[in-house]
Amino acid sequence: MCGIVGYTGARVAEPVLIEGLQKLEYRGYDSAGVCTVEASGAMHLRRAMGKLAALRARLATEPCPGSTGIGHTRWATHGKPSEHNAHPHRYEGVTVVHNGIIENHRALRAELQAEGHTFSSETDTEIFAHLVARERRGGASLHESVRGAVRRVHGAYALAVLDERCPGEIAFARLASPLVVGLGDGENFLASDVPAVLEHTRRFVFLEDGDTGTITAAGLTLTDVDGRPLSREATQILWSAVMAEKGGHKHFMHKEIAEQPRAVTDTLRGRLGLGDGDVTLDGVDLDVLARAKRIVITACGTSWHAGLVGRYLVEQLARVPCEVELASELRYRDPVLSDDTLVLAISQSGETADTLAALKEAKRRGTMVMSICNVIDAAIPRACAPDGSGKAAGTLYTRAGPEIGVASTKAFVTQLVALHLLALQLASVRKTMTKQALAGDLQALAELPMAIEGLLDGEDAVKAAAARYVAARDMLFLGRGLLFPIALEGALKLKEISYIHAEGYAAGEMKHGPIALIDEHMPVLVLALPGPGYEKVISNMEETRARGGRILAVVDTDDHALDDQVEALFRVPARHPRTAPVLATIPLQLFAYHVACLRGLDVDQPRNLAKSVTVE
Ligand code: F6R
Repeated sequence: MCGIVGYTGARVAEPVLIEGLQKLEYRGYDSAGVCTVEASGAMHLRRAMGKLAALRARLATEPCPGSTGIGHTRWATHGKPSEHNAHPHRYEGVTVVHNGIIENHRALRAELQAEGHTFSSETDTEIFAHLVARERRGGASLHESVRGAVRRVHGAYALAVLDERCPGEIAFARLASPLVVGLGDGENFLASDVPAVLEHTRRFVFLEDGDTGTITAAGLTLTDVDGRPLSREATQILWSAVMAEKGGHKHFMHKEIAEQPRAVTDTLRGRLGLGDGDVTLDGVDLDVLARAKRIVITACGTSWHAGLVGRYLVEQLARVPCEVELASELRYRDPVLSDDTLVLAISQSGETADTLAALKEAKRRGTMVMSICNVIDAAIPRACAPDGSGKAAGTLYTRAGPEIGVASTKAFVTQLVALHLLALQLASVRKTMTKQALAGDLQALAELPMAIEGLLDGEDAVKAAAARYVAARDMLFLGRGLLFPIALEGALKLKEISYIHAEGYAAGEMKHGPIALIDEHMPVLVLALPGPGYEKVISNMEETRARGGRILAVVDTDDHALDDQVEALFRVPARHPRTAPVLATIPLQLFAYHVACLRGLDVDQPRNLAKSVTVE
């Protein structure tokens, strides 16, 4: 989830690009770069590792003249953060910035290398510079060359391309990654997102999938990939600068909840073999996985909840014994960890001190290690990078993009997806699933983004329900099986942003104690989705109702059995038991969000909490 900016007009481009990148830094910040072209064709490229401040410092002594340019702030997906992997990438006078993931970059790289191309980075993006340059050699215009290049790639891209032979022009293309054109007076802009250039213009063309074109100071040319002209209405943006940074959402948390269909799509991209009924886990050493006789998942907070779902998936699908342990406990427990154990650390930030310490302790005891992480090359993935010992299986990255709201949402959902993929991979290696069953899970995963989209459309109903519980002091969340961790997560979301005391419980445990708490002041949210525990959960609900408890339930779209028995119902299309946890999470996130908003609280930065807990 990188950030792109482009400018062409009469001003010096560099400050416009840098200010634009500053506004996009929330999209990624492991390296940054700009490239400008002067009217003479002289091209200037500067890149720096780290936050934008490092690039600014570089430009202070080595400025980039020219009134056309492109810039980029990076959130690494292929190739670790470093200056040589920073964008723009250059080849034969063509420079490129890109946001997205190119799935067939290895095959294309091999094809180009066979023709004598040499590469200077490990990124998928550099492919574009080479493909465009190759088309240019054949005499095609810059726009034609970009169209030719994008026809060769599979994946997602928002692309901006400069060529020193056509100063004053920026070519672009978009598929499944955001890109907007800002229309100015004698100048035009490109950006991943409106806030980057909102101080210069309020007129925007929101590009759609398959759009390609060029901007010059004089105007915009827009075609489809085959060169057929397109016209798109410009939109006048009325947002304030602060609203624009949050994409028009009131809070980052809301924006991140809304981004989940995209985050899941990206996490699945290139990993689902729908045709051949298999999964492809990039970055993971399958030989190490194959040797694991036991898996110990370790994590903190929300990531630990994801781990609890992971245990069910790994045991159910791959029949590998799996335990889940809080990282802060594992480390001090003197655990039995043999060398055929794989310790799997899950972390959004990749920097959580307890998780990192548990992982290092496991390594010290000679276990195999692996991580699921959202931040490329953070400390946890670095500790799992293959090192020749045959013990480090690498990292399966979630591709949620930067998560800014303190309450984790899109990172959790993509962790669930990554764990499901991992369990399927293990099952495939161990042949514990039939081809047909595997295909069923893959299909259910592929359908998730659309199903989440549908649940987000139902937000108003969740908000209306939230209004009834704003004054609650306590709340219970109940679930069984795969939905027990979702009950824990629903309770954590509510307590951390609304400060309402909330507890998640395995529904079967109710009668062993917590039922004593039930009265009309204790709303109980029951996760009652189809599956082996359904009848029992309904019985637990009856017991609660009989004691005056107020009940909210998450039920399947087609289940009407509880319609007149509960105060509030959230319906989710839970047709597949193993993707149901993801879908059940969405209304719980929205519920917590709206309760906290209605209580007038600081949703993005709840009291006493930090986004990344780097102390033990
Ligand atoms: C809750 C939340 C935390 C984190 C926990 C671990 O919404 O975000 O509970 O899940 O601090 O953080 P990571 O996943 O970065 O290791």
